[in-house]
Amino acid sequence: QLSALETRFEDTIARSERIEPRDWMPEGYRKTLVRQIAQHAHSEIIGMQPEGNWITRAPSLRRKAILLAKVQDEAGHGLYLYSAAETLGVSRGELTEMLIEGRQKYSSIFNYPTLSYADVGTIGWLVDGAAICNQVPLCRTSYGPYGRAMIRVCKEESFHQRQGYELLMTMMQGTDEQRAMVQESVDRFWWPALMMFGPPDEDSPNTAQSMAWGIKRNTNDDLRQRFVDMSVPQAEALGVTFPDPDLKWNAERGHHDFGEPDWEEFMQVVKGNGPCNAQRIAHRRAAHEDGAWVREAALAFADRQREAARA
Ligand code: ACO
Repeated sequence: QLSALETRFEDTIARSERIEPRDWMPEGYRKTLVRQIAQHAHSEIIGMQPEGNWITRAPSLRRKAILLAKVQDEAGHGLYLYSAAETLGVSRGELTEMLIEGRQKYSSIFNYPTLSYADVGTIGWLVDGAAICNQVPLCRTSYGPYGRAMIRVCKEESFHQRQGYELLMTMMQGTDEQRAMVQESVDRFWWPALMMFGPPDEDSPNTAQSMAWGIKRNTNDDLRQRFVDMSVPQAEALGVTFPDPDLKWNAERGHHDFGEPDWEEFMQVVKGNGPCNAQRIAHRRAAHEDGAWVREAALAFADRQREAARA
């Protein structure tokens, strides 16, 4: 027997309407959202590191300005998402502590190194491309603050993807060495980009419940397929190939067939054993600790303002 509150929640979900912060929600729904939104926010913030690595070495002032703006946008995405999570009763401070203590996850993709400037382009094209594929449906997620944050994030991500593709296009029109740099970068990022969508549906413990609650609108495998179908013609236009001998058009299915990502590698990276996990967390922890004085100063200032207002 459902209570009146539960019935109202279920009806709202069934009508594809939004749950808002002050509405009643099952504890599992709240927990799932905190988990997913926090993981998403952490990914945006940790995701500043691989590209930030190239800001001081950008090949021109124009590329530096673009990259600076892009990395700054990622910080903004993290902040919208932490704000969305805060409407569920957790603070950004608590979430940050959980991240640096390894109690919450962030996207596997940001544990891979950026070895050449072509990686800035490849991350824009493939990594932000995968992010858009995953996030456009999240604009219709059932939790209001998350869906609204996604709308703005997706607009900016689309711009990021285009800048990445434009960078790679420019390199492809350059020297043989530059073309080889692009191909080498695409070879390294293709499989990790496919892993961003999460484990295969049959090994995804959260998908069924998250779909039933309207938190997720598509399964991991559906979105992975959509991404492959979207990327193949883009690769052709660019003049690069993907490192997958099984990748081919299947006219019967109306989709591309493709090979299986190395799920053992994925598990290792998610567990903390990827090439850059330790470095990413150490850097995040140092930035948090180095910024303690800013947080203290802001609080002291706010206290003084409050006292002045009272006096
Ligand atoms: N990297 C790290 N962990 C992952 C990844 C990944 N690519 N994919 C899945 N996982 C984790 C899940 O968080 C879950 O762990 P948990 O239960 O301990 O939290 C576990 O693996 C099993 O996966 P699923 O049951 O499939 O988890 P879920 O239903 O949450 O689906 C997905 C994963 C698709 C990533 C979902 O959480 C999502 O859509 N998140 C929002 C988008 C996002 O976080 N994007 C970040 C990268 S994009 C960017 O920042 C540019």
